[in-house]
Amino acid sequence: MNAPLTLTDILAWLREDDPARLKTLWARADETRRLNVGDTIHLRGLVEISSWCVRQCAYCGLRVDNQSLTRYRMEPGEILESARQAVAFGYGTVVLQAGEDFGLTCEWVADVVRQIKNETPLAVTLSLGERTEAELDAWRKAGADRYLLRFETSDQALFELIHPRRNPDAAGRIPLLRQLKQLGYEVGSGIMVGLPGQTYESVARDIDLFRELDLDMIGIGPFIPHPQTPLGTGELKPVIEPDEQVPNTELIVYKAVALTRLVRPDANIPSTTALATINKRNGRELGLQRGANVLMPNLTPAKYRKLYEIYPAKACIEETGSACNGCLRMRITAIGRQIAQGPGGRKRHAQERDVLC
Ligand code: 5AD
Ligand code: FES
Repeated sequence: MNAPLTLTDILAWLREDDPARLKTLWARADETRRLNVGDTIHLRGLVEISSWCVRQCAYCGLRVDNQSLTRYRMEPGEILESARQAVAFGYGTVVLQAGEDFGLTCEWVADVVRQIKNETPLAVTLSLGERTEAELDAWRKAGADRYLLRFETSDQALFELIHPRRNPDAAGRIPLLRQLKQLGYEVGSGIMVGLPGQTYESVARDIDLFRELDLDMIGIGPFIPHPQTPLGTGELKPVIEPDEQVPNTELIVYKAVALTRLVRPDANIPSTTALATINKRNGRELGLQRGANVLMPNLTPAKYRKLYEIYPAKACIEETGSACNGCLRMRITAIGRQIAQGPGGRKRHAQERDVLC
C-alpha cells in the first residue's frame, strides 16, 4: 500500500524527467485505474451546441473579440438527432457543450434536456460555462445528471488575468463547483497545463485541489496557443522565472493525468481531445494507459465542427460522428481494453423533470 501523495511528492513527480522513474509512475497510475474503475472505457458523445460566447478568455478561440469566427447555435431538433446518434453508437452519455451563450436560455436548455431524458436512456452532461444558480438548479431538475466546468488553474491571479470577470460579484468557479455538488450534479472540472505564467507549483496545487473538491470527473489537456487570442499572439505574456514555467508538452500532461489518478482513484478521467491534438498518432492511447478511463468522441454535425475552434488543428475536425466512433473503437481494442455499457456514473436518485425556470 502506497502512502497518499503529499503536495511535495506531486511537485517532485511533475519535475521528474528520469524515464525509468516515470515508468514506475505510469505503472502505478495504470494499476490504480484498473483496481478502481476497471478495464472498460466510457464513451461520452460530445455535441458542441453553440459557439457563441460573451467572455474574453485570453486562451480560447471562441472569445467574443474573435470576429474571424462564424458563430452557430444548433437547433433543438439537431441536438436531439445527435443524441439519437449517441444511442445508435452505444454511448451512455451525451455532453452538451457551448461557450457562455445567453441565447441558450434557461427554458430552452431545460426543454432540450427534458426531451433527451424522455426519449433516450442517456446520461446528460452540461458544459455551458458559469451560469446562475437558478439556471443550474432548473437544468438539474429537468434531468441533467452532470456538469463540467474546468477551473483551468488554481492560481487566482493568473486565472483573473486570462479569464477577465464579467460580473464583479460573480462567485468564481471553485465556489460554483461546490454549489453544483449541492444541487445534486456529478461534478467535473479540470485544467490546462502549460499556460504562459503557470508554475509547476501551481499545477501541483491544482492536483491537490482535485482531491479536496472530491471531483467525479477531471479533464486535463495541454494549453494550445490560438493565433486569434492574446495568449496565442504573445500580446499577453505573464512573466515568471523560466525555471518555474510549466511546459505545454505531452509529457507533462501524462504526469498530471497519472498523478490525478493517484489522488482521485475512482474518478472518471478522460484522455482529452487536446492531448490527441498534440499527439494525433497515439496521445489518446497513452493517456488511457497512464490513468485515464474515458473518451469523448465528437458527435457535433460536420457542418459545425470546424466552427468550434477553441484551439487550432483540433483532432477530428474533418471527421464525421461515425468515423470517430469507428476510430475510437479500433484504438480501444488495440490496447486491449473494452467499451463500457450504460451511463457510467454514480447511482442517480429519482428526480422530477417538470420544475420550470
Ligand atoms: N488550448 C487548450 N485547451 C483549451 N481550452 C480552451 N482554450 C484552449 C486552448 N487554447 C479548454 C479549456 C476549456 C475547455 C472547454 O477547453 O480548459 O475549459
Ligand atoms: Fe475522431 Fe479518431 S476519434 S477520427
